[in-house]
Amino acid sequence: MSAPTPTGGSEAEPMIRLEGLQKRFPGQAEPAVDDLSLDVPEGEIAVLVGPSGCGKTTTLKLINRLIEPTAGRIVIAGEDVTHADPDSLRRRIGYVIQQVGLFPHMTIAENIATVPQMLGWKGIDARVDELLELVGMEPATYRGRYPRELSGGQSQRVGVARALAADPPVLLMDEPFGAIDPITRERLQDEFLRLQGEVRKTIVFVTHDIDEAIKMGDRIALLRIGGRLAQYDRPQRLLIDPADAFVAEFIGGGARVKGLRLVTVDDVELTEWPTARPGDEAARVLALLRESDRGHALLLDPEGRPRSWLSREELGRNGRPLEGLGETVGTTVEVDDTLHQALDALLASGAGAAAVVDPSGRYRGVVDLATLAAAVAAMAVNGHRPAGAEAEAANSERDPAAGS
Ligand SMILES: Nc1ncnc2c1ncn2[C@@H]1O[C@H](COP(=O)(O)OP(=O)(O)OP(=O)(O)O)[C@@H](O)[C@H]1O
Ligand SMILES: [Mg+2]
Repeated sequence: MSAPTPTGGSEAEPMIRLEGLQKRFPGQAEPAVDDLSLDVPEGEIAVLVGPSGCGKTTTLKLINRLIEPTAGRIVIAGEDVTHADPDSLRRRIGYVIQQVGLFPHMTIAENIATVPQMLGWKGIDARVDELLELVGMEPATYRGRYPRELSGGQSQRVGVARALAADPPVLLMDEPFGAIDPITRERLQDEFLRLQGEVRKTIVFVTHDIDEAIKMGDRIALLRIGGRLAQYDRPQRLLIDPADAFVAEFIGGGARVKGLRLVTVDDVELTEWPTARPGDEAARVLALLRESDRGHALLLDPEGRPRSWLSREELGRNGRPLEGLGETVGTTVEVDDTLHQALDALLASGAGAAAVVDPSGRYRGVVDLATLAAAVAAMAVNGHRPAGAEAEAANSERDPAAGS
């Protein structure tokens, strides 16, 4: 659906519903947010994305009534809160503000405890420790520190912990992982998605980064300047079927390659690959390679972990034990990694394949270009996760026969 129509009565009540929301700041010719309608189902992450100044922060502030709408309605859990008491509303909504915004004169514990304190909760110390652990920070180390004594990434985690403190059903997050190095950012994103798997909040998440939107969002709302909704859809629909030229341009080139971020390795059937063990004879491995039509064999160590890629040329040179040969396998991928990560590992390998391992590091199979091409083709036809679903169906048909 590219039209931002609220869903009809047949579906469950959304946790957040915006209806024709408009904000016109005094003295501004154009509205900052205009006729914005969208539903966020309970437990989902809706990402607001768009260029700087398109009204993302304004939309968040309208939802928790830090600013008042010029027109339109805000409905939370079925209740029209457009004119509700803003203080009591904000207790039900956690807010991670742009640039973290921790209180500099308060310790980390005091920062996190802000809302529970306001609510007069008991057992706040235990709650603070629980939250610090939840965001991966050792309570004993960090409870008593001040915000200036934290790294950027740690501050952002504390920001998330503070927003979660009173266990609100709704979270608003304004570029929570912005202004941070790409590696830490990826880690915070992964940690947050894992956390969300546990806490299942309904989240409106703001970013200006389409890749972050694709990764984090169950749905993506792309806004254009003036706060008008260009498209509100599941990430794969946005990639496969952009509503107009603005959406296509914002997504940028390589939409299908970006789609590889939406499919995990366990969604696809792994390719079989010629493997060798340290004691094997080079000539035998070479014969195996020729038979398989591959350029490299994968040497496994005695525990079955990928060790190196052996080329035909190296195997052709006689008389050396296999252990010393080949290009060391750098990055391996696990089944819950995305095909995008597999593509990265594949491009780095020189063998044209990414070795897939189980959690204990043992070899499971490979992802090669054919695997990726099949996944991309299937995505264009069916949307998300078709390859895995098909493989599963095929397996369950095969299984009974396999026993006989
Ligand atoms: N208090 C205000 N008074 C007047 N205009 C405002 C006010 N706050 C925001 N604006 C204007 O409203 C528009 C939307 O601003 P907003 O902060 O929502 O953008 P944004 O999408 O969050 O941008 P960014 O990605 O840069 O954070 C901008 O043109 C901004 O200048
Ligand atoms: Mg903003």
